[in-house]
Amino acid sequence: GTGKFFVGGNWKCNGTKDSITKLVADLNDAKLENNVDIVVAPPYIYVDQVKQSLTDHIEISAQNCWVGKGGAFTGEISAEQLIDIGCKWVILGHSERRHIIGEDDQFIGKKAAFALSQNLKVIACIGEKLEERETGKTFDVCFQQMKSFADIILNWMDVVIAYEPVWAIGTGKVATPQQAQEVHAAIRDWLKKNVSAEVASSIRIIYGGSVNGSNCSELAKQQDIDGFLVGGASLKGSEFAIIVNSV
Ligand code: G3H
Repeated sequence: GTGKFFVGGNWKCNGTKDSITKLVADLNDAKLENNVDIVVAPPYIYVDQVKQSLTDHIEISAQNCWVGKGGAFTGEISAEQLIDIGCKWVILGHSERRHIIGEDDQFIGKKAAFALSQNLKVIACIGEKLEERETGKTFDVCFQQMKSFADIILNWMDVVIAYEPVWAIGTGKVATPQQAQEVHAAIRDWLKKNVSAEVASSIRIIYGGSVNGSNCSELAKQQDIDGFLVGGASLKGSEFAIIVNSV
């Protein structure tokens, strides 16, 4: 990897007050590498509870946010509100929001630009679907998604890119270290050609999709894998700790 190792836990739409209290206690007790950026993303309604109770070593992310300034947008949460309660990060462009909720490239790009303008750091997700991989479109799809971020993002300092092949998310079918490395290297090369050599060499590109305590260390050894975005395995404190410490 290039930058400081980064591990995010995306809790998605899981948990209760009780189970989250337990998960926070387990994370507070876990032995976690000092030299790793660690972030967890609880569901919105538990963000404040987690912020109040979790060790400062782990930063908090939201799983989404509104595309602009707050106001008359029923059901939405704004970047300013996330900053207000001590949230440092937001996940944008997750495949579940792209493909289940229907957010498009342009909307996601606007969300990223607005979040960054409010000093919220962004975990920008990209990744191809199975039929796209099988028809040889992996790079085209990833580059198109990258372009919609690059068209609007000016400052990449506060961005981490998460490559998450949709076929690997929640399926138990993890990408091989070679498959992930190939796409990470291609994304870095795309950034070099389309943004700058500086951004390409300094940005963290993390992998997500069925990462667990047993497959993380082989993936972590790859040159262009700078960390992970973990879903299911982040709901168990002890397994998440293994992944954090896999660098
Ligand atoms: O954001 C996390 C990814 O969607 C990965 O989820 O680890 O459950 O496959 P997963």
